[in-house]
Amino acid sequence: MSTQARGLEALVGSGAPKGGGTRVVAITSGKGGVGKSTISANIAYVLAREGFKVGIMDADIGLANLDVMFNVRADRNILHVLKGEATFEEIVTRIEPNLWLIPGESGDEILKFSDATIVSRFLDEAESLESLDFLIVDTGAGIGDTIQMFLRAADDVVVVTVPDPAAITDAYAMIKVVSKIKEEIGLVVNQVKSAKEGQKIFDTIEKVARGNIGGDLKLTLLGTIRSDAYVARSVKQRVLVCKELANIAPAGDIEAVASRLGEKKERKMLDGRKERGIGNFFKRLLGQF
Ligand SMILES: Nc1ncnc2c1ncn2[C@@H]1O[C@H](COP(=O)(O)OP(=O)(O)OP(=O)(O)O)[C@@H](O)[C@H]1O
Ligand SMILES: [Mg+2]
Repeated sequence: MSTQARGLEALVGSGAPKGGGTRVVAITSGKGGVGKSTISANIAYVLAREGFKVGIMDADIGLANLDVMFNVRADRNILHVLKGEATFEEIVTRIEPNLWLIPGESGDEILKFSDATIVSRFLDEAESLESLDFLIVDTGAGIGDTIQMFLRAADDVVVVTVPDPAAITDAYAMIKVVSKIKEEIGLVVNQVKSAKEGQKIFDTIEKVARGNIGGDLKLTLLGTIRSDAYVARSVKQRVLVCKELANIAPAGDIEAVASRLGEKKERKMLDGRKERGIGNFFKRLLGQF
Protein backbone atom coordinates (compact mmCIF):
# COMPACT_ATOMS: atom_id res chain seq x y z
CA MET A 1 0.00 0.00 0.00
CA SER A 2 1.34 3.45 -0.91
CA THR A 3 1.89 6.24 1.61
CA GLN A 4 -1.13 8.08 0.22
CA ALA A 5 -3.31 5.04 0.56
CA ARG A 6 -2.12 4.63 4.12
CA GLY A 7 -3.01 8.26 4.86
CA LEU A 8 -6.48 7.67 3.55
CA GLU A 9 -6.83 4.52 5.58
CA ALA A 10 -5.94 6.54 8.66
CA LEU A 11 -8.75 8.94 7.73
CA VAL A 12 -11.43 6.31 7.26
CA GLY A 13 -10.04 3.73 9.65
CA SER A 14 -8.86 0.24 8.92
CA GLY A 15 -10.33 -3.11 9.76
CA ALA A 16 -12.70 -5.25 7.79
CA PRO A 17 -16.26 -4.02 7.41
CA LYS A 18 -19.02 -5.91 9.16
CA GLY A 19 -20.30 -8.70 7.01
CA GLY A 20 -17.80 -9.34 4.28
CA GLY A 21 -16.84 -6.32 2.24
CA THR A 22 -18.22 -3.01 1.14
CA ARG A 23 -21.65 -3.28 -0.40
CA VAL A 24 -21.91 -0.93 -3.37
CA VAL A 25 -25.50 0.24 -3.84
CA ALA A 26 -26.32 2.22 -6.98
CA ILE A 27 -29.41 4.44 -6.80
CA THR A 28 -30.81 5.12 -10.25
CA SER A 29 -34.01 6.02 -12.10
CA GLY A 30 -35.50 6.06 -15.57
CA LYS A 31 -36.78 9.62 -15.39
CA GLY A 32 -34.80 12.45 -13.81
CA GLY A 33 -35.86 14.49 -10.81
CA VAL A 34 -37.59 11.65 -8.96
CA GLY A 35 -35.58 12.00 -5.74
CA LYS A 36 -32.42 9.91 -6.24
CA SER A 37 -30.09 12.43 -4.62
CA THR A 38 -32.46 13.14 -1.74
CA ILE A 39 -32.86 9.41 -1.08
CA SER A 40 -29.14 8.63 -1.52
CA ALA A 41 -28.04 11.35 0.89
CA ASN A 42 -30.61 10.46 3.53
CA ILE A 43 -30.10 6.70 3.30
CA ALA A 44 -26.35 7.22 3.63
CA TYR A 45 -26.92 9.44 6.65
CA VAL A 46 -29.26 6.94 8.36
CA LEU A 47 -26.96 3.95 7.74
CA ALA A 48 -24.05 5.95 9.16
CA ARG A 49 -26.10 6.88 12.21
CA GLU A 50 -26.93 3.20 12.70
CA GLY A 51 -23.21 2.53 12.99
CA PHE A 52 -22.27 1.46 9.46
CA LYS A 53 -19.31 3.14 7.80
CA VAL A 54 -20.70 4.72 4.68
CA GLY A 55 -19.27 6.38 1.60
CA ILE A 56 -21.46 8.29 -0.79
CA MET A 57 -20.50 9.19 -4.33
CA ASP A 58 -22.31 11.07 -7.05
CA ALA A 59 -21.74 9.49 -10.41
CA ASP A 60 -23.68 12.17 -12.21
CA ILE A 61 -24.31 15.78 -11.54
CA GLY A 62 -28.03 16.44 -11.71
CA LEU A 63 -30.15 19.20 -10.27
CA ALA A 64 -28.66 18.89 -6.84
CA ASN A 65 -25.06 17.93 -6.24
CA LEU A 66 -24.41 15.91 -3.14
CA ASP A 67 -21.85 18.43 -1.91
CA VAL A 68 -24.58 21.05 -2.02
CA MET A 69 -27.00 18.76 -0.23
CA PHE A 70 -24.49 18.09 2.53
CA ASN A 71 -23.49 21.72 2.60
CA VAL A 72 -19.80 21.11 2.04
CA ARG A 73 -17.47 22.38 -0.66
CA ALA A 74 -16.02 19.90 -3.07
CA ASP A 75 -14.04 21.64 -5.75
CA ARG A 76 -12.13 18.55 -6.77
CA ASN A 77 -13.50 15.11 -7.47
CA ILE A 78 -12.72 11.65 -8.65
CA LEU A 79 -11.92 12.93 -12.13
CA HIS A 80 -9.03 14.97 -10.71
CA VAL A 81 -7.73 11.82 -9.08
CA LEU A 82 -7.93 9.95 -12.38
CA LYS A 83 -6.13 12.81 -14.11
CA GLY A 84 -3.42 12.63 -11.48
CA GLU A 85 -4.22 16.12 -10.21
CA ALA A 86 -5.33 15.12 -6.74
CA THR A 87 -5.09 12.13 -4.43
CA PHE A 88 -8.08 10.21 -3.15
CA GLU A 89 -7.27 11.44 0.33
CA GLU A 90 -7.59 15.05 -0.81
CA ILE A 91 -11.05 14.66 -2.29
CA VAL A 92 -12.73 12.51 0.38
CA THR A 93 -14.63 14.67 2.88
CA ARG A 94 -15.92 13.49 6.22
CA ILE A 95 -19.48 14.69 6.71
CA GLU A 96 -20.50 12.87 9.86
CA PRO A 97 -18.56 10.57 12.16
CA ASN A 98 -19.32 7.54 9.94
CA LEU A 99 -20.06 9.22 6.63
CA TRP A 100 -17.66 10.21 3.86
CA LEU A 101 -18.43 12.03 0.61
CA ILE A 102 -16.49 10.93 -2.44
CA PRO A 103 -17.23 13.66 -4.97
CA GLY A 104 -17.87 12.07 -8.32
CA GLU A 105 -18.19 13.09 -11.92
CA SER A 106 -20.32 12.09 -14.81
CA GLY A 107 -18.87 8.85 -16.07
CA ASP A 108 -18.45 10.16 -19.61
CA GLU A 109 -15.50 12.18 -18.39
CA ILE A 110 -14.00 9.36 -16.38
CA LEU A 111 -14.08 7.34 -19.58
CA LYS A 112 -11.37 9.45 -21.17
CA PHE A 113 -8.70 8.70 -18.59
CA SER A 114 -6.95 5.43 -18.84
CA ASP A 115 -3.33 6.15 -17.97
CA ALA A 116 -2.26 2.80 -16.56
CA THR A 117 -0.04 4.22 -13.82
CA ILE A 118 -2.69 6.61 -12.57
CA VAL A 119 -5.44 4.01 -12.72
CA SER A 120 -3.28 1.60 -10.78
CA ARG A 121 -2.54 4.25 -8.12
CA PHE A 122 -6.23 5.11 -8.05
CA LEU A 123 -7.14 1.47 -7.41
CA ASP A 124 -4.47 1.18 -4.74
CA GLU A 125 -5.89 4.20 -2.95
CA ALA A 126 -9.45 3.02 -3.43
CA GLU A 127 -8.56 -0.17 -1.59
CA SER A 128 -7.83 1.87 1.50
CA LEU A 129 -11.56 2.63 1.65
CA GLU A 130 -12.18 -1.08 2.03
CA SER A 131 -13.35 -0.72 5.62
CA LEU A 132 -16.53 1.01 4.44
CA ASP A 133 -19.67 -1.09 4.93
CA PHE A 134 -21.57 0.72 2.20
CA LEU A 135 -20.82 2.83 -0.81
CA ILE A 136 -23.98 4.56 -2.00
CA VAL A 137 -23.66 5.71 -5.61
CA ASP A 138 -26.09 8.35 -6.80
CA THR A 139 -26.18 7.77 -10.56
CA GLY A 140 -27.84 9.85 -13.19
CA ALA A 141 -31.19 9.06 -14.74
CA GLY A 142 -31.78 7.11 -17.92
CA ILE A 143 -30.36 4.10 -19.66
CA GLY A 144 -27.19 5.65 -21.08
CA ASP A 145 -24.09 3.49 -21.47
CA THR A 146 -22.12 5.11 -18.69
CA ILE A 147 -24.87 4.74 -16.15
CA GLN A 148 -25.14 1.11 -17.12
CA MET A 149 -21.44 0.68 -16.40
CA PHE A 150 -21.94 1.97 -12.88
CA LEU A 151 -24.94 -0.31 -12.42
CA ARG A 152 -23.03 -3.31 -13.70
CA ALA A 153 -20.12 -2.62 -11.35
CA ALA A 154 -22.40 -2.16 -8.31
CA ASP A 155 -23.53 -5.01 -6.05
CA ASP A 156 -27.10 -3.76 -5.70
CA VAL A 157 -29.25 -1.60 -7.93
CA VAL A 158 -32.13 0.46 -6.57
CA VAL A 159 -34.52 2.02 -9.08
CA VAL A 160 -36.47 5.06 -7.87
CA THR A 161 -39.76 6.13 -9.41
CA VAL A 162 -42.63 8.47 -8.61
CA PRO A 163 -46.34 7.85 -9.33
CA ASP A 164 -46.52 9.86 -12.54
CA PRO A 165 -47.14 7.62 -15.57
CA ALA A 166 -44.12 8.86 -17.53
CA ALA A 167 -41.82 8.05 -14.60
CA ILE A 168 -43.38 4.60 -14.23
CA THR A 169 -42.87 3.87 -17.94
CA ASP A 170 -39.24 4.99 -17.70
CA ALA A 171 -38.71 2.99 -14.50
CA TYR A 172 -40.00 -0.08 -16.26
CA ALA A 173 -37.63 0.52 -19.21
CA MET A 174 -34.78 0.87 -16.72
CA ILE A 175 -35.75 -2.36 -14.93
CA LYS A 176 -35.78 -4.16 -18.26
CA VAL A 177 -32.22 -3.03 -19.01
CA VAL A 178 -30.97 -3.78 -15.48
CA SER A 179 -32.59 -7.23 -15.53
CA LYS A 180 -29.99 -8.22 -18.13
CA ILE A 181 -27.14 -7.51 -15.71
CA LYS A 182 -28.64 -8.16 -12.25
CA GLU A 183 -30.84 -10.92 -10.89
CA GLU A 184 -32.34 -8.74 -8.21
CA ILE A 185 -33.53 -5.14 -8.36
CA GLY A 186 -34.88 -3.02 -5.52
CA LEU A 187 -37.61 -0.51 -6.21
CA VAL A 188 -38.43 2.63 -4.22
CA VAL A 189 -41.64 4.50 -4.98
CA ASN A 190 -41.13 8.10 -3.91
CA GLN A 191 -43.55 11.00 -3.52
CA VAL A 192 -46.59 8.86 -2.83
CA LYS A 193 -49.72 9.95 -0.97
CA SER A 194 -49.79 6.71 0.98
CA ALA A 195 -47.94 3.43 1.32
CA LYS A 196 -50.95 1.81 -0.35
CA GLU A 197 -50.51 3.94 -3.48
CA GLY A 198 -46.82 2.96 -3.60
CA GLN A 199 -47.61 -0.73 -3.18
CA LYS A 200 -50.14 -0.54 -6.02
CA ILE A 201 -47.56 1.01 -8.33
CA PHE A 202 -45.06 -1.67 -7.37
CA ASP A 203 -47.63 -4.41 -8.05
CA THR A 204 -48.32 -3.00 -11.51
CA ILE A 205 -44.64 -2.74 -12.41
CA GLU A 206 -43.96 -6.23 -11.08
CA LYS A 207 -46.83 -7.72 -13.04
CA VAL A 208 -45.65 -6.17 -16.30
CA ALA A 209 -42.06 -7.17 -15.55
CA ARG A 210 -43.03 -10.77 -14.78
CA GLY A 211 -45.00 -10.97 -18.02
CA ASN A 212 -42.35 -9.44 -20.24
CA ILE A 213 -38.98 -9.98 -18.66
CA GLY A 214 -39.30 -13.51 -17.41
CA GLY A 215 -39.21 -15.54 -14.27
CA ASP A 216 -35.65 -15.08 -13.08
CA LEU A 217 -35.87 -11.44 -12.12
CA LYS A 218 -36.44 -10.75 -8.44
CA LEU A 219 -38.04 -7.36 -8.01
CA THR A 220 -38.29 -6.20 -4.39
CA LEU A 221 -40.18 -3.22 -3.02
CA LEU A 222 -37.61 -1.61 -0.72
CA GLY A 223 -40.10 0.98 0.41
CA THR A 224 -42.44 3.82 -0.38
CA ILE A 225 -41.74 7.42 0.60
CA ARG A 226 -44.50 9.91 1.16
CA SER A 227 -44.54 13.29 -0.50
CA ASP A 228 -44.02 16.26 1.75
CA ALA A 229 -43.60 19.99 1.16
CA TYR A 230 -40.69 20.09 3.62
CA VAL A 231 -38.81 17.52 1.56
CA ALA A 232 -39.52 19.50 -1.59
CA ARG A 233 -37.81 22.51 0.00
CA SER A 234 -35.06 20.54 1.71
CA VAL A 235 -32.59 20.53 -1.17
CA LYS A 236 -32.70 24.28 -1.68
CA GLN A 237 -32.49 24.88 2.03
CA ARG A 238 -29.65 22.36 2.40
CA VAL A 239 -31.55 20.51 5.07
CA LEU A 240 -30.96 16.80 5.47
CA VAL A 241 -34.46 15.48 6.11
CA CYS A 242 -33.56 12.49 8.29
CA LYS A 243 -31.27 14.63 10.42
CA GLU A 244 -33.09 17.90 10.80
CA LEU A 245 -36.71 17.01 10.08
CA ALA A 246 -36.61 13.56 11.62
CA ASN A 247 -40.23 13.61 12.79
CA ILE A 248 -41.92 14.14 9.42
CA ALA A 249 -43.47 11.12 7.67
CA PRO A 250 -41.00 10.78 4.77
CA ALA A 251 -38.06 10.72 7.20
CA GLY A 252 -39.49 7.56 8.78
CA ASP A 253 -40.15 6.15 5.31
CA ILE A 254 -36.55 6.70 4.24
CA GLU A 255 -35.32 5.17 7.51
CA ALA A 256 -37.32 2.04 6.72
CA VAL A 257 -35.62 1.78 3.30
CA ALA A 258 -32.21 2.22 4.93
CA SER A 259 -32.99 -0.47 7.53
CA ARG A 260 -33.95 -2.88 4.79
CA LEU A 261 -30.61 -2.27 3.07
CA GLY A 262 -28.82 -2.75 6.39
CA GLU A 263 -30.59 -6.05 7.07
CA LYS A 264 -29.93 -7.18 3.54
CA LYS A 265 -26.24 -6.53 3.93
CA GLU A 266 -26.15 -8.61 7.06
CA ARG A 267 -27.90 -11.50 5.30
CA LYS A 268 -25.72 -11.25 2.22
CA MET A 269 -22.53 -11.55 4.22
CA LEU A 270 -22.95 -15.27 3.78
CA ASP A 271 -23.39 -15.27 0.02
CA GLY A 272 -19.67 -15.72 -0.49
CA ARG A 273 -19.08 -13.43 -3.46
CA LYS A 274 -15.34 -12.99 -3.52
CA GLU A 275 -15.11 -9.89 -5.65
CA ARG A 276 -16.93 -7.69 -3.17
CA GLY A 277 -15.34 -4.49 -1.95
CA ILE A 278 -14.66 -1.02 -3.06
CA GLY A 279 -11.39 -1.75 -4.82
CA ASN A 280 -13.16 -4.40 -6.85
CA PHE A 281 -16.00 -2.03 -7.63
CA PHE A 282 -13.59 0.48 -9.15
CA LYS A 283 -11.70 -2.31 -10.90
CA ARG A 284 -14.92 -3.51 -12.49
CA LEU A 285 -15.91 0.05 -13.36
CA LEU A 286 -12.62 1.16 -14.87
CA GLY A 287 -12.09 -2.22 -16.49
CA GLN A 288 -15.18 -1.61 -18.61
CA PHE A 289 -13.76 1.47 -20.27
N1 LIG B 1 -40.72 12.62 -0.91
C1 LIG B 1 -40.62 13.82 -1.48
N2 LIG B 1 -41.59 14.77 -1.26
C2 LIG B 1 -41.49 15.99 -1.82
N3 LIG B 1 -40.47 16.39 -2.61
C3 LIG B 1 -39.50 15.50 -2.87
C4 LIG B 1 -39.51 14.18 -2.32
N4 LIG B 1 -38.39 13.54 -2.75
C5 LIG B 1 -37.72 14.42 -3.53
N5 LIG B 1 -38.37 15.59 -3.60
C6 LIG B 1 -37.98 16.80 -4.34
O1 LIG B 1 -37.88 16.52 -5.72
C7 LIG B 1 -36.84 17.29 -6.31
C8 LIG B 1 -35.90 16.37 -7.04
O2 LIG B 1 -35.21 15.58 -6.09
P1 LIG B 1 -33.72 15.08 -6.33
O3 LIG B 1 -32.84 16.20 -6.73
O4 LIG B 1 -33.36 14.27 -5.15
O5 LIG B 1 -34.01 14.13 -7.59
P2 LIG B 1 -32.96 13.40 -8.54
O6 LIG B 1 -33.63 12.16 -9.00
O7 LIG B 1 -31.66 13.25 -7.86
O8 LIG B 1 -32.83 14.43 -9.74
P3 LIG B 1 -31.76 14.41 -10.95
O9 LIG B 1 -32.26 13.35 -11.90
O10 LIG B 1 -31.82 15.77 -11.51
O11 LIG B 1 -30.43 14.07 -10.35
C9 LIG B 1 -36.16 18.07 -5.17
O12 LIG B 1 -36.69 19.36 -5.13
C10 LIG B 1 -36.57 17.28 -3.95
O13 LIG B 1 -36.60 18.09 -2.80
MG1 LIG C 1 -29.74 13.94 -8.46
